[in-house]
Amino acid sequence: MDYFVPEAGIKALEDYSLSILKDPGEFVHPDLTREIGEGLDVSAVGRSLPEGMGIEDFRDALMLGYRTEAATETYDHQFQMVADLFGVGWLGRFNAEVWSPDEKTHNLPYFDSLVDLGYYPSDLIRIAREDLAREFEHRGVLTPIGVTWFGTIQERVTDGYHGVVAKTVRASSPVAADRIVRVRKRETLHTVWYNRFTAIQVQYNPELLEQVAIATAKFEMPEHQVAPDLAHRGGELGQMMGADYRAWVRDLVRYMHELTNDVNKTGRLMLDLAAARGDSLAGMNPKILRSVLTFLRQNGFVGEIVLESFGFDQRIPQSNGLVNRIKSLLRHQIVRHVNVAGVYS
Ligand SMILES: [Fe+2]
Ligand SMILES: [Fe+2]
Repeated sequence: MDYFVPEAGIKALEDYSLSILKDPGEFVHPDLTREIGEGLDVSAVGRSLPEGMGIEDFRDALMLGYRTEAATETYDHQFQMVADLFGVGWLGRFNAEVWSPDEKTHNLPYFDSLVDLGYYPSDLIRIAREDLAREFEHRGVLTPIGVTWFGTIQERVTDGYHGVVAKTVRASSPVAADRIVRVRKRETLHTVWYNRFTAIQVQYNPELLEQVAIATAKFEMPEHQVAPDLAHRGGELGQMMGADYRAWVRDLVRYMHELTNDVNKTGRLMLDLAAARGDSLAGMNPKILRSVLTFLRQNGFVGEIVLESFGFDQRIPQSNGLVNRIKSLLRHQIVRHVNVAGVYS
């Protein structure tokens, strides 16, 4: 896939990367995790699980968090490969010096919690090693913007996941919850960083929005490959723990809009996304629809409908008969499609 960012954009990306390298915040150091406390007592969690969730389910939820985080090396290699292939030092340095070392300790609160629940450390280490040995194929867009946008979505989802696990375990083990929250805060930062990297690339080459659309359509949480026997339970386990998937998707819509800062472009992005997903909207191919709407100068309302449906303040202006007919045809469909664009299913 073609990838281009002009010199000024590269400079902006280098500067941003450098600012993160200078001030990456505090990583979750193994000892720092333990500083929070010794008495985990995760085993008492059985008494305070949400309705419909058994201890086996919770064990799976912890295991999924552990295995996903323990496979950092796999994603690290993939991202580094893209950075090297495209010769983008800003991504390579960020990945090697900040993101990867940061992620390496994220599995620890999960590891400790699982040990507290009766797992042998040697078994957990073996499981993680087997996951790392598995062939990993990144199914997204293998360009720098493909990676940073993948990172934005993945980090947001992971942030939400740590949040619900911490909430679930808090009553029985505030220590375990605090440790997981410590990790969660790093994911929040990662989301901001990846999103900003993506926005800078788009700012200097708006054509790259198409790759954002494709990367969104192709997005798959990496655990589907890292922990394929467990990953299929991710959505269900998250739901049991009270994950608000709509809020997650709402954030993604907001990030997308932040990339464009323009409802017309957000509208086009949504149509590109629908096309990349192979959706049809009101029986129409989104690509054709995009051309028609561009001709009518009406891409904006697609963006407006999507943003409005997620509660972002958008006033949809009244327009003439033909446009109104197209709008009413599409409104329901667009809202439905965006709502089902759950990234964690
Ligand atoms: Fe992480
Ligand atoms: Fe992260």
